[in-house]
Amino acid sequence: MKLFLDTANQAEVEEAVKMGVISGVTTNPSLVAKEGGDYLERVTYFCNLVGGPISVEVLSTDAAGMLQEARELAKLHENIVIKLPITAESLGVIKQLREEGIKTNATLCFSANQAILAARAGATYVSPFVGRLNDIGQDGMVLIEEIRTIYRNFGYNTEIIVASIRNPRQVTEAALIGADIATIPFKVLQQMLNHPQTDLGIAKFEADWANRK
Ligand code: E4P
Repeated sequence: MKLFLDTANQAEVEEAVKMGVISGVTTNPSLVAKEGGDYLERVTYFCNLVGGPISVEVLSTDAAGMLQEARELAKLHENIVIKLPITAESLGVIKQLREEGIKTNATLCFSANQAILAARAGATYVSPFVGRLNDIGQDGMVLIEEIRTIYRNFGYNTEIIVASIRNPRQVTEAALIGADIATIPFKVLQQMLNHPQTDLGIAKFEADWANRK
């Protein structure tokens, strides 16, 4: 399973790239709004630094506006992926962008049927939001299982990005199900790495070495 970082923060992307474990970045309007500054410049920087797909979301809600924004954003860099919420307006846009060779990420996916529509439209990626489903009392991972099964049944090649991840256990579960990608906040990346036994083990090796005969 590939790991993407879910952030618009430059320091976090730089740190994760240094670790060598992320192969893409996902942003959304809320994440971008938190950072300020010139976000187009920053996502272009991410494209060069990460060397993989960087999802940037359109803000228009009508098909013509989405298409125009998508084409402008795609000109920034070949690694730009256009993120569009799954709506009646966006499906045709996703299809059109595929024909133009522009990659898309169908986002705000909350049902298997939405994921089928995204795949039929030709989305490069689909982003089911597990955390937000858990927030309303559903089991987000059940949705990931359903989409994985459906995509396997019909050979859809849209890649599943497990999104809205809130804790490290969800990363393990996404991998066990066979999701293609988990997009994770920087905090979850740190939580994946840390283990008290690793820290204790290092401290003990250091102490034993310092007391060697
Ligand atoms: C993914 O593409 C989204 O940007 C993100 O995972 C949403 O996460 P949230 O539900 O924690 O805001």
